[in-house]
Amino acid sequence: MSDKQNNTMEKIVSLCKRRGFIFPCSEIYGGLANSYSYGPYGTALKNNIEKLWWRKFVENREDMVGMDGPIILHPKVWEASGHTEGFNDAMVDCKACKYRFRVDHLIQEAIGEDMEGDLDGMNKKLQEEEIKCPQCGKKDWTDIREINMMFKTQMNGFDGEVYLRPETAGAIFLDFKNIIDSLRVKVPFGIAQTGKAFRNEIVAKSFIFRVREFEQMEIEYFIHPEADWESIFEEWLKKQEEFAQSLGAKKEDLRRYEHPESKLSHYSKKTVDVEYNYPFGGFDELFGLAHRGDFDLTQHAKYSKKDLSYTDPFSGEKYVPHVIEPTFGLDRCVLTSLCAAYTEEEVSDTSRVVLKFPRDLAPVKIAVFPLLRNREELVGKAREVFDILKEHFVCEFDDNGNIGKRYRRQDEIGTPYCVTVDFDSLDNDDVTIRDRDTTEQNRVKLGELLDYFKDRLISL
Ligand code: GAP
Repeated sequence: MSDKQNNTMEKIVSLCKRRGFIFPCSEIYGGLANSYSYGPYGTALKNNIEKLWWRKFVENREDMVGMDGPIILHPKVWEASGHTEGFNDAMVDCKACKYRFRVDHLIQEAIGEDMEGDLDGMNKKLQEEEIKCPQCGKKDWTDIREINMMFKTQMNGFDGEVYLRPETAGAIFLDFKNIIDSLRVKVPFGIAQTGKAFRNEIVAKSFIFRVREFEQMEIEYFIHPEADWESIFEEWLKKQEEFAQSLGAKKEDLRRYEHPESKLSHYSKKTVDVEYNYPFGGFDELFGLAHRGDFDLTQHAKYSKKDLSYTDPFSGEKYVPHVIEPTFGLDRCVLTSLCAAYTEEEVSDTSRVVLKFPRDLAPVKIAVFPLLRNREELVGKAREVFDILKEHFVCEFDDNGNIGKRYRRQDEIGTPYCVTVDFDSLDNDDVTIRDRDTTEQNRVKLGELLDYFKDRLISL
């Protein structure tokens, strides 16, 4: 990672804390390793991204429905899906400094080889290549061990361990039958769900990129086994790339990574990640897309002993649909939109930091200022303007500090428009509107203000 990249990431992390986007979790107790809380603006940004996703992929499509299943499911779900047996990562400890590593990441970073899943191979490589501990430089490794990444817990009234879900997708398959029986959905169709997922990652890292508690937005898209899955797959991949761009990611900062056959699960015909060029470490996974065949429905039918097939209402054909699974990490969406928006620039000989979010994602859409806070007539008029606008858009009233300071604050939280009520406003019934990106200022009559913003802003 270059110093410049490191530096940019540090600046983003610091802005996130300073301006109320993302805070280290449990900070007053000394913090909890690599856990974060979303502050007021971070929550608003995350909610906007989720709303945009739900609108694009559920509400705006006739072939999609949404659902919301619980975090704790029957543990047999994870036996059927293979998570209990195989949702493992391999770790190794440095005996000298006691630092713990995920072995595939350690090898990838040391010699650029992707060996995920190949335990014997990784064991050999660690010795043969004499890979050193990146933390202390020694070569004194423990044996490699595999750990299951699911968090275990107990539940009153249930004998045995249950798990916090490691992905949201699981619940979707459980309600496949309920949904086809209760709605008029016909294959091809998809079921979407958003919510928390939990993974006991060996090393959480890179701010909110890899954390142990995160949010996913997932779709299981059911298709006929003989359907032209390649074109459906390609369509979903394009939709994922479009969504990444609606977060603000530039086309050149996105690329596809197709998993080699050796890394594919036995049931998967194809898996592709959409990667983003993060300002730490470069390209890495943002979204995933997988062809899962009929694996999930077949496994759940086998373990539950229930018929999970689908009968075509026109032809009467009975079959187990295949599944294309587009999966999106919400925290990675937030990270991507922060990284893409972060801009340092010179404007009129002064430097500024501005988050150039797409306007519909900005946590605050309009900030309203009275020019001076100690002039009642200005404050009163600004309040009137604020009261009108806040019925339609997320607005903030700000009379703290001088106008320059207020602009800087609003730039740093990415507010697209600032409206100032000054002395001319009292005579002319108009206001100054300042555009975040161009910093250009316009005078607009109060009677035209709402239409002005309705033409330029979408409230999600
Ligand atoms: N149901 C398929 C599934 O869960 P995945 O690639 O393991 O696939 C999907 O996860 C998405 O969830 C990833 O593309 C990523 O955006 C996000 N994700 C996975 N692990 C994460 C973690 N530890 N922290 C933050 N986001 C994570």
